Amino acid sequence: MKQNMYIKGVGMTKFDYSQKYWWQFAYEAAVDALKDAKLGISQIDAIVFTGMSSAAGGEHQTHKVSFLSGLFKTNVPIIEVPSVCGGGGVALWTALHLEGFKNILVLAGEKLVDNKSEIVVDYILSAAERVMEQTEGMLFPVQNALIWQQYVKKYGGSMDDLSLIAFKNHTNAALNPNAYFYNRPMDLEKVKNSPVVSSPLRLMDCSLSINGGAAAVVSIEPSDIEVIGSGFVTDYILTFERDDITHFKATKLAAKAAYTQAGITPKDVNVAEVHDAFTSVELISYEDLGFAEEGKGGELIRSGKINLKGEMPVNTSGGLKAKGHPISATGLAQVFEIVNQLRGKCGERQVSNPKIGLTHNIGGAGGSVTVHIFKKI
Ligand code: COA
Repeated sequence: MKQNMYIKGVGMTKFDYSQKYWWQFAYEAAVDALKDAKLGISQIDAIVFTGMSSAAGGEHQTHKVSFLSGLFKTNVPIIEVPSVCGGGGVALWTALHLEGFKNILVLAGEKLVDNKSEIVVDYILSAAERVMEQTEGMLFPVQNALIWQQYVKKYGGSMDDLSLIAFKNHTNAALNPNAYFYNRPMDLEKVKNSPVVSSPLRLMDCSLSINGGAAAVVSIEPSDIEVIGSGFVTDYILTFERDDITHFKATKLAAKAAYTQAGITPKDVNVAEVHDAFTSVELISYEDLGFAEEGKGGELIRSGKINLKGEMPVNTSGGLKAKGHPISATGLAQVFEIVNQLRGKCGERQVSNPKIGLTHNIGGAGGSVTVHIFKKI
């Protein structure tokens, strides 16, 4: 970012299985964000869109920037930046680095779940490497089970720690009206005894595939929320080509860039949305983001420090686990949560007086990662 950048407004839909088109989710989220920013579409100078599902389900619509021009009745530049599960964060990063625009709408809409589970799972697999991973059936639960097995071999680590992460995120989601699991807290024993999906990961270790949209309005004009750090790093698509698979190098580097730019350390963060595609990814990310020392992520979840009433709550929204994970919309839904936490607008799940919040969004199994840091002015 060459200049100071601010968030003027945020919006999102409820995450659920409703069978609207991807663009309806995007439209609803955009209207919500524009209302929050107190702007009309005519005051938006550019749009950055991210999505993955729009060509799924036989819709056959790839010229989405032109489609969105008609939807919003605008002729401004519209840029599409797909980056699978990391799309929302990459779209935000792109908007923050565009020059010459006053207000930019950042937008995502996904109708991911439009068919039987096995078809949705196969569609998500398109985010993995084509020749080796896809043909070997390296679904994301499988990739992450292998990563977790290597982590356990090197550092130890217990499934009970992962269950505590799922339990925490379900507890938070029960307080979030936009979350799929709103008003439905999960029993810890039920988490621990859920069916095995890819050993040792269980159903309750996996994020919940869902539909939804999210949006944010980024501006060079000062607002109550400043973006003080923005890091984006990529890594090889073949997970097993990387030097160390027990951690996500791209997270470490993106976090370093964001902290340096913001002039803060991990200790200064008051609230964070961490990419819990799997509970193991959340635990490993505590370490990659500097919230815990290497190998000590389990201690952090056991300490209670990152629970809602703890020193630095993580995934107050319910996270990908229990709010739900509509692929590209996830990164912007994280921004929605952090901005509302900093504004003190999160109701029953409000953290006490946070000043600095962080979002962490991963594409694939660590192949594209963004970290953003927000400050209440
Ligand atoms: N946690 C809690 N509940 C879940 C769930 C999850 N991860 N996944 C599905 N469910 C629930 C559904 O809400 C549904 O409940 P309902 O009947 O009350 O509506 C029920 O289980 C059946 O849904 P279905 O989609 O048929 O589930 P499934 O058992 O086939 O799917 C997984 C389970 C693990 C395959 C699926 O959750 C999954 O693929 N998760 C990972 C997604 C992913 O890889 N994302 C990319 C990350 S990099």
